[in-house]
Amino acid sequence: MKGPNGPKIWPIVGSLPGLLENGNRMHEWIAENLRVCTGTYQTCICAIPFLARKQGLVTVTCDPKNLEHILKVRFDNYPKGPTWQAVFHDLLGEGIFNSDGDTWLFQRKTAALEFTTRTLRQAMGRWVNRAIKSRFCPILEMAQVQGKPVELQDLLLRLTFDNICGLTFGKDPETLSPGLPENIFATSFDRATEATLHRFIIPEFIWKLKKMLGLGVEMSLSRSLKQLDNYMTDIINTRKLELMNHQNGGPQHDDLLSRFMKKKESYSDKFLQHVALNFILAGRDTSSVALSWFFWLVSLNPRVEEKILIELSKVLVETRGNDTSKWLEEPLVFEEVDQLAYLKAALSENLKTLPIGARGLKTCHF
Ligand code: HEM
Repeated sequence: MKGPNGPKIWPIVGSLPGLLENGNRMHEWIAENLRVCTGTYQTCICAIPFLARKQGLVTVTCDPKNLEHILKVRFDNYPKGPTWQAVFHDLLGEGIFNSDGDTWLFQRKTAALEFTTRTLRQAMGRWVNRAIKSRFCPILEMAQVQGKPVELQDLLLRLTFDNICGLTFGKDPETLSPGLPENIFATSFDRATEATLHRFIIPEFIWKLKKMLGLGVEMSLSRSLKQLDNYMTDIINTRKLELMNHQNGGPQHDDLLSRFMKKKESYSDKFLQHVALNFILAGRDTSSVALSWFFWLVSLNPRVEEKILIELSKVLVETRGNDTSKWLEEPLVFEEVDQLAYLKAALSENLKTLPIGARGLKTCHF
């Protein structure tokens, strides 16, 4: 890998000062460092020799060749490893984001297979359409009538959270509802993710000690994990009963959790919980951040907005006729979306241009 010079590394505290100084402009700071280092640099959060060896060097890269090397050509050379796994274990267990080898491979294969099935696409379409029609659009219309601004980023986060919960375990928590209610599962999930990431910036033995003594962020983490556990236990127990009833003619479920449960009956509840939490982490912020950036970029480029609208109108005239009131009756179906080549290109350009979450590559490889 080329370009080893990164941000300044201080004795003992490593790159922590730069990290803290740029806490509110993390993406810009990382992008500047990458530019200076022509695409790749190495850094370490702690520069105390024995701890640095344990915590390891962090390589930051946006070089497509390096990404291909890490994610494809020599994928096996880059396991998450014990330090990473220890940090995430309480939240993600041995889920797809926190496992290597056979445990990872099995989940990857199951997920990849499920993502190609028509029923999963249909389930995704059903959850998204229902939320857009009955909650997202009415909230926007209401704001328009009242002449009030909306926090689009928050609405999109709520929308994608509801959708991904529906898709993952078949229950829509309706965080996107009039009045924008607080939801215990969403807030616990946010707090747990934030507290877990906190572990990355301090040496392992310190967060482990804090965990043992129940101090600071670790205390809030354990509280949030308990709440997540209660919520998920309830979901899994209900689903087990429903699956049993289904064998006797009860309702059928097509969410990911049920698919994993039907694959093998002996998965522990904890493993199933982690499978679900990993998927929620994977699909929630990524989609909402991508959409937020997209609407922001479109608002800055009226020419692109116009082209998107022209393409959309053409398709809707073909599929729903000239009466524009029919255009808004139902959200688009897959056959209509498939014809929106310009919109898809604009979305891809958006993914290519702007940072989505904390990940290196900008697409899932399913
Ligand atoms: C704009 C939206 C999204 C972006 C930008 C995105 C990006 C990524 C990236 C960069 C990776 C790591 C690279 C890889 O392993 O291929 C990844 C992995 C993953 N994504 Fe996505 N993702 C998005 C939406 C979703 C959604 C909606 C789901 C699930 C419903 C999902 C599920 C996953 C899973 C399970 C993995 C782990 C794959 C593995 O480790 O093998 N993603 N995603």
